[in-house]
Amino acid sequence: MNKLSFLRYLTSSSSFGRNKNVNLEPVVDSNELRKTDFGNDFYWGVATAAYQIEGAWNQHGKGESVWDRFTNKPGNVKDNTHGKVATDFYNRYPDDLQLLKSLNFDNFRFSFSWPRILPNGTGQINEKGIDFYNRMIDASLELGIEPWAMLYHWDLPQKLEDQGGWSNRDMIGWFSEYADLCSRKFGDRIRHWMVLNEPASFTTLGYLSGMHAPQQSGIAKFLSSVHHACLCQAAGGRIIRNNVKNSHVGTSFSCAFTEPQKKSARHHRASQRLDVMLNRLFIEPSLGMGYPYRELPFLKKIDKYIFPEDHENLKFEFDFIGVQSYFRVISKPSLLPLIWANRVKPHRTAEVTEMGWEVSPDGMYDIIMQFSKYNVKELIISENGAAFPDTLVNGRVNDQQRISYFKRYLHNVLRAKKDGANVTGYFAWTFVDNFEWDEGNRPRFGIVYNDFDTQERTVKDSGLWFRDLLG
Ligand code: BGC
Repeated sequence: MNKLSFLRYLTSSSSFGRNKNVNLEPVVDSNELRKTDFGNDFYWGVATAAYQIEGAWNQHGKGESVWDRFTNKPGNVKDNTHGKVATDFYNRYPDDLQLLKSLNFDNFRFSFSWPRILPNGTGQINEKGIDFYNRMIDASLELGIEPWAMLYHWDLPQKLEDQGGWSNRDMIGWFSEYADLCSRKFGDRIRHWMVLNEPASFTTLGYLSGMHAPQQSGIAKFLSSVHHACLCQAAGGRIIRNNVKNSHVGTSFSCAFTEPQKKSARHHRASQRLDVMLNRLFIEPSLGMGYPYRELPFLKKIDKYIFPEDHENLKFEFDFIGVQSYFRVISKPSLLPLIWANRVKPHRTAEVTEMGWEVSPDGMYDIIMQFSKYNVKELIISENGAAFPDTLVNGRVNDQQRISYFKRYLHNVLRAKKDGANVTGYFAWTFVDNFEWDEGNRPRFGIVYNDFDTQERTVKDSGLWFRDLLG
């Protein structure tokens, strides 16, 4: 395995082997979940992202995004699909929102497409793009659905990437202009805001391993992108708080509880290094703790990109932190000095999802407890869910394994809440099966099945399960 594929292996979200020998744990039915156990003011919602659902990739003046560029290149997406149409949410949002309401969800997380609003990334505003979000937000509110806006879910305007994208320090100015525009245009109706979706994912996959758009790689690009993302995360928070009255502002992190494969000191160190990369790198600077160099000295190289005023500018006190967790990670030491640690494949009898991710409900409990040690006001599970190979038979998708997954993970959210973690919401990933990045349309994460040829939606049994839980 060469260095690049090693890095890919390490940073890939889907690099684990597929596992046929599934040992499906029984669902604990003796302890049924009740909505009221979570409290009356708990936020229940679904999460989505612009590029994965909107389609309309060049409709009404939208500019090109790095994902439009990436998916145009044959071979980049496993099944050669793309987000040109996706689930056509751009045209079908009224029906989709009604369907969401019929499943008793009160909260809808979506993201703005930066190039739909600012086709060149800065400057000229695309009024038709603004108009779309206005209509969609108004339609949600009319149905009694609270919109939760994410500013950035990976679809960077290509024009900005042409100038270096996240690795260019000018990003702070570009992003601030965009955040200011969105919060002024929509802040009169949107209270809940999130700044960045999983900066660890888009910097690692986009600027280190090159597996995702914009396919950049190398330590310098990665570290500069990390620092600029940390600065933008705080700047975005400040801008929203300034522009939106009574705002509830957060940002989201991809997290995975890490455990050493063996009890040795070397394994423990490897696990700590992976913990830095997966869980600590982006939250600690915002809390004024600086970058977690101690366990991962190579991060010291980031100093090169830090200006004196940055130390203060990295800080922002978010109202909530979005925890996005799907699996735990078992780690072992790496023999290559550049690599901080390796992931161990799930055991052959472990239950895994279609992405090869281990189903590890306890990992959800552990990661919430880990994050609740930080001094943050609220934690919201802003994404959690699973892809399984669904089949539509006579108008029904009997996805018992997904229901079982949700039940077990939600039990662990509740357990963490009972043990003192201030978890105030849960957003299922995702509503309608959508475009899963470099994996294409194959992995189905939705609680609603999508026929990508006809765009016909069928509520899966898991969707009905949520309807009954929340009803
Ligand atoms: C991302 C989503 C993605 C999901 C499942 C998260 O990392 O925010 O966009 O579809 O995981 O892979």
